[in-house]
Amino acid sequence: MYTEHRDLTWILSLLLLSGVHCNEWNVKYQPSVCAVKGSSVVIPCSFNYPKEEKVQRVMWGHGSKDIFDGPFIFDSASNNQSPVYQYKGDKLHNCSLKINPGKHNITGKYTFRFTTKSPAGKWIGKEGSTLKIVDLKTSVINTSGHGATKEGDSVNVTCRNGCDGADASSAFIWLKNGERIQEGPSLYWRNISLLNSGNYSCSLKGHSGTTSGVVNINVEYGPKNTSVSVRPSTEVDVGSSVTLTCSSRANPPVEKYSWFKVDDGDIVLGENKSELHFREVSIAAGGQYLCSATNRHGSQNSTMVTLKVKAHFPYIIVIATAAAALLVVAAIVIALRRCKEKRAREPEADHEEDQQNMLYLNWPMPDNSTEGNPCEGDKTETVYTTIDFNLKRKSNTQQQTYSHSNDEGAI
Ligand SMILES: *[C@@H]1O[C@H](CO)[C@@H](O)[C@H](O)[C@H]1NC(C)=O
Ligand SMILES: *[C@@H]1O[C@H](CO)[C@@H](O)[C@H](O)[C@H]1NC(C)=O
Ligand SMILES: *[C@@H]1O[C@H](CO)[C@@H](O)[C@H](O)[C@H]1NC(C)=O
Ligand SMILES: *[C@@H]1O[C@H](CO)[C@@H](O)[C@H](O)[C@H]1NC(C)=O
Ligand SMILES: *[C@@H]1O[C@H](CO)[C@@H](O)[C@H](O)[C@H]1NC(C)=O
Ligand SMILES: *[C@@H]1O[C@H](CO)[C@@H](O)[C@H](O)[C@H]1NC(C)=O
Repeated sequence: MYTEHRDLTWILSLLLLSGVHCNEWNVKYQPSVCAVKGSSVVIPCSFNYPKEEKVQRVMWGHGSKDIFDGPFIFDSASNNQSPVYQYKGDKLHNCSLKINPGKHNITGKYTFRFTTKSPAGKWIGKEGSTLKIVDLKTSVINTSGHGATKEGDSVNVTCRNGCDGADASSAFIWLKNGERIQEGPSLYWRNISLLNSGNYSCSLKGHSGTTSGVVNINVEYGPKNTSVSVRPSTEVDVGSSVTLTCSSRANPPVEKYSWFKVDDGDIVLGENKSELHFREVSIAAGGQYLCSATNRHGSQNSTMVTLKVKAHFPYIIVIATAAAALLVVAAIVIALRRCKEKRAREPEADHEEDQQNMLYLNWPMPDNSTEGNPCEGDKTETVYTTIDFNLKRKSNTQQQTYSHSNDEGAI
């Protein structure tokens, strides 16, 4: 009995279905269709008509009118087909429409209509199908706290397709600064670093045109790489100008600079300036300096730099003057001594000794051609020196060609 009853119901519903689906005029839609912005979407559709009919023309309309009568976004009778609306159905029972993304507004109600060969054979599926467009939504959870993301925080970024129900989950692709980085439902950093800063977005896998809004991950950190540079140099002459510059990487940027002169018991100088400038540096300004950079996440000290202030220029003059004076005195003394010796000695011996001393500078030499006492003659000292010219070598070929004239150094 029970089984028979079930069979009967089954047969009844089959009859009912065949009656509804095969011998009546109708269009069946999915009442609402959801798509992610930037993706193409198919509006599923099927239609029916009495068996004896033959479909002649199929049309799709887009608009909220109850009975849409044109202009049509697709018309099988027209030669002018838009690339945005592609009829994926046929002239039998499938009337699916594919909509490609573009700049135009594609949301709203879509209705299908068709005509058959018989004079009265036409039908509109006036219920239509309503297309909804949603965005991909990203959300950031900073599991280590609230507000700004700081180096070391745990951060989770998730993507959500607004079309998905609570159960369904789409496949996503993640992009960093527009470059594909990975697939998956979310991004997770257990210990975020400044290298992870960037603009992140997600997109539906297989639909490259879809993209979420950008999530800017800005990883903040305390000062790093704090250093002092000195211009023009760490060794300067007294009275010249010198500038010490403190540089540091920090996010947010350094909010405060402090300068210390270490060898003077950490004296604090030039509060809150990235540059320490001496217009006319004094000897006392020489010493060891360091700077400290601070932002809301911490402070960092630079290594020490040593500024050497030299009294360079005046000393040179003093030394040069003293040296010159010494030379003059020495020359006079030697000259006087040699004059005395000359008077006592034979000229021949003198000559030999002088030959040996040819390399000495400022050596008073007796002139062989002039007879008589050199001390009585002209007061000018004749200066002898040996100069060895090493002629610059030319290229090998040239050297060969001109070797006869080139290979001797001139004396
Ligand atoms: C109708 O055609 C589309 C595109 O060819 C196809 O995806 C869909 O499954 C078809 N529908 C039915 C009910 O056969
Ligand atoms: C986080 O990473 C930094 C280097 O990037 C490392 O120095 C630190 O120890 C890490 N912290 C944890 C809790 O893993
Ligand atoms: C991230 O986006 C912001 C705002 O659009 C832009 O100013 C910044 O340059 C972007 N950063 C990168 C690394 O592309
Ligand atoms: C900054 O310091 C890190 C180490 O703390 C080093 O690896 C990096 O090369 C430095 N960067 C610059 C620009 O000096
Ligand atoms: C230091 O100077 C900067 C601007 O150069 C300013 O924004 C900051 O408030 C100053 N900080 C202090 C503690 O004075
Ligand atoms: C930076 O150096 C100054 C001067 O030597 C010192 O007082 C301070 O404690 C140092 N700060 C850090 C963070 O090392």
